[in-house]
Amino acid sequence: MGYTKIDVMTETGYVVLDMYDQAKDPKEWLDIEYVDWRSSGVTRFAPLASAFGEMECNGFWNHTPPRTDKDGVWVQANIDVAPMLKKRAEEPGANIGRCRVIELQPNEYGDALYNMHQDDNNRLNPDGTGWIVRGFFNLTDNPDSMMILREDRFDPSTEIRIPLPAGAQIIVDTQRFWHAVWHQGTEPRYCLITSWESGPELDAYIAKNNGKTRVENYPVTPELAEQAEAHFRRRVDERAAALAAKGIVDEGVKDPEA
Ligand SMILES: [Fe+2]
Repeated sequence: MGYTKIDVMTETGYVVLDMYDQAKDPKEWLDIEYVDWRSSGVTRFAPLASAFGEMECNGFWNHTPPRTDKDGVWVQANIDVAPMLKKRAEEPGANIGRCRVIELQPNEYGDALYNMHQDDNNRLNPDGTGWIVRGFFNLTDNPDSMMILREDRFDPSTEIRIPLPAGAQIIVDTQRFWHAVWHQGTEPRYCLITSWESGPELDAYIAKNNGKTRVENYPVTPELAEQAEAHFRRRVDERAAALAAKGIVDEGVKDPEA
């Protein structure tokens, strides 16, 4: 039977929506509560919806009973101070799973490549229902930071770099793509991340916001790309060697955003 997917999303695996006027909203992300949560890079997360409405960020499949990334329960203490963020997550009208604000410290291109991973959004997702994709609404103005996507982890020619100014709105099939953010700057970056179920509601929302299936890559020089790739590969090799020395077989990258 397979999953319901959105045609416009399956073409390139991502869409970039019209910009949101972020400046008109209060900076709610500064008032919510963050918990330390290991992800790609130096991060903390503030849950707005979690498996049972608790102040925690674990994947819904890691709870008892385990379940898929749908039917998130609002975390009262955080939505009380972030009603706009909740409203934006609800705007598509699609089922919401995990919903949280990420705080990411600045990093380097090569380290961002090393941080790339695929999400495990559709674990336990019943066949015949909607494929889970994730929305990224950039809250801080980071025009020189970018979402890096690769269809093939070790093939730089598949790389997509989507810049992240304030108000950037992107929806990505993060289970399909290897992805991470390269955040250039001196202050942390904040972004609202929401798991949505694909279906007619999300499809209509993408159409209403003029979802584009292609954008121009943020430019990088060939020298910088080469340097970053070498750094990435070196770190991958070092990790494999370190694990091998301990007699551990490297099982690869697991979804660090669970
Ligand atoms: Fe992710």
